Amino acid sequence: MLKENLQELHQQTTPFYVYDMNLLRQTLQTAKKEADKYDYHVHYAFKANVNAPILSEVLKNGFGADCVSGNEIKAAIENGFSPEDVVFAGVGKSDAEINFALDQNIFCFNCESSHELEILNELAEKKNKTARIALRINPNVNANTHKYITTGLEENKFGINSWEIDNVLELLQTLKHIELIGIHFHIGSQITDLTVFKNLCTRVNEFQEWFTSHNIKLQHLNVGGGLGVDYYHPEENAIPDFAAYFGLFNQFLELRPGQQVHFELGRSLVAQSGTLISKVLYIKKGITTNFAILDAGMTELIRPALYQSYHKIENLTSDKAAVKYDVVGPICESSDCFGKAVELPETNRGDLVALRTAGAYGEVMASNYNLREKAKALYI
Ligand code: LLP
Repeated sequence: MLKENLQELHQQTTPFYVYDMNLLRQTLQTAKKEADKYDYHVHYAFKANVNAPILSEVLKNGFGADCVSGNEIKAAIENGFSPEDVVFAGVGKSDAEINFALDQNIFCFNCESSHELEILNELAEKKNKTARIALRINPNVNANTHKYITTGLEENKFGINSWEIDNVLELLQTLKHIELIGIHFHIGSQITDLTVFKNLCTRVNEFQEWFTSHNIKLQHLNVGGGLGVDYYHPEENAIPDFAAYFGLFNQFLELRPGQQVHFELGRSLVAQSGTLISKVLYIKKGITTNFAILDAGMTELIRPALYQSYHKIENLTSDKAAVKYDVVGPICESSDCFGKAVELPETNRGDLVALRTAGAYGEVMASNYNLREKAKALYI
């Protein structure tokens, strides 16, 4: 896709993000088709990418919205999502955000602590409303992923721990403006080992048993998101294996009659369709290495600096013999490095470089550190 559009790419001011809309559509359609096989409902995790053309495809393909701030809820509604398809998650919802969500009559609040439940009840009471909620439970399942994107261990700040559930249920009986409709789990992101999800199902089944034994009916089970993508082979594995993913839940999750299963996928739906394009500014010889200095940096793609994550780097211009480079950005931080000893065709000033799989947690995590301009997006 990139090489076919090289001329158009060369005309843009770098750095910029480019989105492959055909790949995005194929990815969304595949995910929807596989989820539909089991009547699963998928809410797209807005935090991965909130560009309007992307949201429009997400909406067209029948996904709901998983939001983590008042502004994400606003974006969902402004982009045509129905409030009934909006869930609101997050460990620190502000009063203003809760009030806004109540005014919009969103489908469900995913609540993470007793304290939050009390405040939500208070705010709902003032509006004479009842808030539908799912309890986010911390299942203590290891996601085998980077520790900064692990969320389902007891040491993490997320969710209600299993030993607190008794107390929370007691509290819920006193909160008249809250209706419990389900339970929610999210154990982490960029999960590539599917047995992790099998372990999650086992824990969800145990919690279900517990709720059933307490005579509590749950209409919804929300098992979160987290399906990983292949950063190493963006072309070969452009579309994640949604069939295996949803199939696994179908095999291992034990449902009660009439129960609906919800997912919150972000990365797996949008990551592969986005690329960050940058131009080489300078080549500089170091003591042990060559540096290829790009005009994009951690301000446009912070994942390598933050999680030491790998993004495939390609030189779109040169086809000379391979040389190794440390590929770095212009920002005044040594962590502003996209890759060390990366083998690239001999690279020169002005070459276009692609940083692949940047469609999720790329543009949304951009900053204007060093007073940098916001990079534009191109859709092809
Ligand atoms: N649901 C909840 C409650 C979440 O916290 C997240 C992601 C998702 C769903 C969507 O997860 P996904 O399907 O995208 O894995 N900035 C990091 C990722 C942070 C993910 C935060 N939560 C990165 O660049 O890897």
